[in-house]
Amino acid sequence: MKVSGRRDLNPGPLPPQGSALPLRYAPIYGNEIKLVSDKILKEPPASIQGGNIEIKILRMSRREKIERAMRNRQKDLALYLYKVSNPHNLSAIIRTAEAVGVPSIYFTMEEDVPFEISSGVTMGAHKWVNLHEVEEPDSFLEEMKRKGFNLVATALRGDAIHFRNYDFTQKTLIIMGNESRGLDEWVIEKADYTIIIPMYGMVQSLNVSVAAAVILYEALRQREEKGKYPG
Ligand SMILES: C[S@@+](CC[C@H](N)C(=O)[O-])C[C@H]1O[C@@H](n2cnc3c(N)ncnc32)[C@H](O)[C@@H]1O
Repeated sequence: MKVSGRRDLNPGPLPPQGSALPLRYAPIYGNEIKLVSDKILKEPPASIQGGNIEIKILRMSRREKIERAMRNRQKDLALYLYKVSNPHNLSAIIRTAEAVGVPSIYFTMEEDVPFEISSGVTMGAHKWVNLHEVEEPDSFLEEMKRKGFNLVATALRGDAIHFRNYDFTQKTLIIMGNESRGLDEWVIEKADYTIIIPMYGMVQSLNVSVAAAVILYEALRQREEKGKYPG
């Protein structure tokens, strides 16, 4: 059993095997938050011997923060980043999505662009979201449709609807486009809705991470009003 404390949380020494963990600490096994439970709290490591289990010791305040984040997760809101060409944008979007409670981010990298996460940009947010690389965008979108998600493309088109006029309290996959080319036409055709953030200045578009933030926070605003964030 590998045990690691977190220096920044200063948890103090781990009690000897067989004794109870102090109640202000909660163990997490691996990175799986679902394993943080009162049962585990009351039955500390002594009962979990052997195996390849990593125990991290957290302060209760941290545990409460995690539980709050889990409660506010929006399981019916997801994000798909199509043909990402700048990994920094990916990292910036992950940070915003995590803040809004989006649990899963799907992405396809532009050809020859490596998948990279910049922890200086995500500030750790990437550890709290499920990241899925999509190799076949077409069948992925079909699958999300089958699962009941509305496919919502974001694009700079005259026939797109104002982003605030879409009802984000529905089960929704928001699709963001490539930094220079936007979304391919076939993606827009496949989508159930196309939304646009109005642009009244001289520039044609927003940076994709800014556009994602504007849209995600509109989704949050609507969902807060419907009580989808218990707090
Ligand atoms: C820099 S833009 C791409 C611009 C590209 N020339 C085009 O015509 O789509 C990158 C992505 O950010 C999003 N985006 C940027 N500005 C937007 C806006 N005003 N409305 C909706 N989406 C926007 C879209 O997902 C877009 O594909």
